[in-house]
Amino acid sequence: MKKVLVINGPNLNLLGKRDTKLYGVKTLPEIERRLKAEGKKLGIEVVCFQSNSEGAIIDFIQQNYLEAAGMIINPGALTHYSLALRDVLADVALPCVEVHLSNIYAREEWRQKSVTAPVVTGQISGLGWQGYLLALQYLASVLKETGRS
Ligand code: DQA
Repeated sequence: MKKVLVINGPNLNLLGKRDTKLYGVKTLPEIERRLKAEGKKLGIEVVCFQSNSEGAIIDFIQQNYLEAAGMIINPGALTHYSLALRDVLADVALPCVEVHLSNIYAREEWRQKSVTAPVVTGQISGLGWQGYLLALQYLASVLKETGRS
């Protein structure tokens, strides 16, 4: 079965508690359960990972990308400054969707810059938790077309 990695960065373990107006009321385990259920329907194994540490996220990508067909990543604040994360995303060159729950382009100026967006396939920003779902549906359809596994 095709595998898609779903990676969440710093502070996203607090979803449901942190600023719910911006990030919604769903917790990360709830979102992950929903994605796994959708993955089942689409014939995709969804493997989820969250860490507050940049190094742990990079280690996870390095250790898992060879078995993965695609990736969904919300790098949290790492989006705006982590060149090390940008490098690993460029190096592994998997179909990858960057997801942000909030619309980063409607927020502080420093949030409007993503250092990772130029090296991923595309970005979904501002659609809440449904952004992850849309990203998974997109990857499923692309992987089906390309036959990549
Ligand atoms: C976020 C946006 C980032 O600016 C912020 O640091 C986050 C969450 C989002 O999902 O909207 O932690 O990635």
